[in-house]
Formats: sequence, structure tokens, C-alpha cells
Amino acid sequence: MSFPSSSVMLLVLMLTALLKAASAETFHRAGQISFGNELANILNGGKLLTLSLDNSTGSGYQSTNTYLFERLDMNIKLVPGNSAGTVATFYLSSQGANHDEIDFEFLGNVSGQPYTIHTNIYSQGGGNREQQFHVWFDPTAAFHKYTVIWNPQLIMLMVDDTPIRVFNNNEAIGVPFPNSQAMTVYATIWDGETWATEGGRIPTDWTQAPFTASYESFVINACEYSSGSSSCGSSETTNSVTEASLTQSLDSEEHEKLLWVQENCMIYNYCTDNERFPQGLPPECNQPYYLHVHDHYLMAASAENFYRDVEITFGDERAMILDGGDLLTLLTTLALVSNP
Ligand SMILES: *[C@@H]1O[C@H](CO)[C@@H](O)[C@H](O)[C@H]1NC(C)=O
Ligand SMILES: *[C@@H]1O[C@H](CO)[C@@H](O)[C@H](O)[C@H]1NC(C)=O
Repeated sequence: MSFPSSSVMLLVLMLTALLKAASAETFHRAGQISFGNELANILNGGKLLTLSLDNSTGSGYQSTNTYLFERLDMNIKLVPGNSAGTVATFYLSSQGANHDEIDFEFLGNVSGQPYTIHTNIYSQGGGNREQQFHVWFDPTAAFHKYTVIWNPQLIMLMVDDTPIRVFNNNEAIGVPFPNSQAMTVYATIWDGETWATEGGRIPTDWTQAPFTASYESFVINACEYSSGSSSCGSSETTNSVTEASLTQSLDSEEHEKLLWVQENCMIYNYCTDNERFPQGLPPECNQPYYLHVHDHYLMAASAENFYRDVEITFGDERAMILDGGDLLTLLTTLALVSNP
């Protein structure tokens, strides 16, 4: 690409400088109770959601809007005490047969034994990508932050800002990636007695019911999607956190943390389960484990109007003309690969 060089000034934009904190949603504003009647409660003026499970039913909450790419943060305090057989969740899912889904599921345990954080990713109807973790703290003693970052390059799951899992876009080698179906956000609690705790070996102690998980500080920085169009088309409707999450990748510190979690806390990884995939591991498992990506923005400001003077010749949405033609941004991606 070439520009009238006299009128172009190139700047490297440090994205981190632009971040501003988004405020927590109220549960009333963002969605509604979807099942469980009085077992689900929105309290404290919409800031706290409690979901309970008893021997008759679980309960759930879902967002009103659907989103295509986002950063979601939710603080969760899990069912305390003997929670064996209970499953609390925080997940995203699209509708229909070939649905996409990104899951955090919290499998309870008998008192004093560790919870399992069960994660999975479905793309275009296909799942079977489980990874499970024991965390480094007691998730029932206090609220901890669980984050989903979903952008066109990757899905990243974080716990207290520590990445625990990254699923890269590997469409180039034929692995479907969720990038065309908008998803609803869900929080639920349900009865997983028949499988959740050591394959159903440990029964739920229903005398402890109701079992209650609490959710608060729900923050949505997302591209809202309705009637086929995304709110992220223009800068007026996209806040800086959403914008940053759209290009978010691992920095080297996060990469270190991810490796630590995977070494010390991961208790199951589909990518090492050869018995389960006798015909060969899924193709993404043979890719470099993590793509370590650095994004660089080049920004060109000009006295001319970029709409009038130049046209975008390649790169799709990596090249953008903004501010009524006054600003051109170009995104280049360098991928540094580290092997497992
Ligand atoms: C469910 O729990 C309630 C309250 O503890 C109890 O009265 C009832 O018998 C239980 N129902 C079943 C089917 O176990
Ligand atoms: C429950 O605790 C046992 C013993 O520490 C552990 O092996 C198991 O993975 C835990 N189960 C779940 C569902 O977290």
C-alpha cells in the first residue's frame, strides 16, 4: 500500500494507554432469570445474582442480548461445603444445530476437596475439547474473577486475570473457529450427580440443599449483535476495552502464567488423551501449543481525506479508515511460535 507520503505521519499506538475500566452491569439490565423461579434471585439492586439447586430443580440466568466477540468478567463464589454433584456454570452459547459454545463449568466436591474447573469449546456443533483444572485457591471462600475473551484470533479463559486456557483460531488448518454466530451469556446451576464427581461415584448429599452459587461484578465489553449487524462497526458504539479485547493476545507475562497453570493445575487435557482419539488427536493439538502474538497498530493521520485519497487493498478489517476519513489504522500481526 502506498500513501501520499508528505501528508502521512505514522505512529505506533500503544493500546494499553487507552484502556478505561467499564462498570459492572446490573443483572436486571443485562438479562433475566431463565429457570428455577424462586431458586434464582437478583439482589442488591441488581448487583448480585444467586442461583440455587435443590432436589427438584436447578436455576439459571441469561443475557438479553447476543454478542459476537467480547470480554466478559464475572466474579463467582461457588457452593461451599459438601457440593459434590453440583455444577455451577458461566458460559456462552449460540442457538441451533451447529452451535458454538465456550464453557466454564464448576464441578463441586465433598468438603475440603478441590473443585474442578471444567472448560470446553464447541465450534459449529463440534465439542470434545475439554480441559480441566484444580485452582490454586478455595473458590468457595470468596469471590474470584472468571473471564472469557473471545475475538477473531483466539478464545482465552482467565481466572483472576491469570490465563488458564487459550484456543487459537486454526481455521487455516481446517479447525472450525466460532466467528460467525452470536452467543448468549448464561449462568446456571444444575444437578450433575450422575457424572460430575468422580464419574458419579460420589452422590450428592441432598440434606445440604439448597446449594447456592453467587455471581457479582458482571462486566460486559462486547460487540452487540442484532439483525445481522454488530455494534462494533463504528468507534462511537465500541468502547476502548471492547476494542482492546478484539485484538487481545497473550503478552509474555501471561504466557508464563499460562504455562505455570498448565503444568501445575491442569488435570485433564483432550490434547493428550490418545486413548480417546485412537485415529489421531484433533488437528489443533498438533499445532504449536500457543501462538504468541504481538499486534502492532500503525496509525496514519493525514490532512487529506483517506476515503478520497486511498483505498484499502488488502487485510479486510485489519485496515480501517476512521474519523470521517481523517485516520487510517493498519494492523499487522507477527506470530512468534513457542512449542509445547
Ligand atoms: C426434597 O427435599 C424436600 C426438603 O428437604 C423433602 O421434603 C422432599 O421429600 C425431597 N424430595 C425428594 C423427591 O427427595
Ligand atoms: C474431588 O477431590 C478428589 C480428591 O482430592 C479429586 O481427586 C477429584 O478430582 C475431585 N473431584 C472434582 C469433581 O473436583
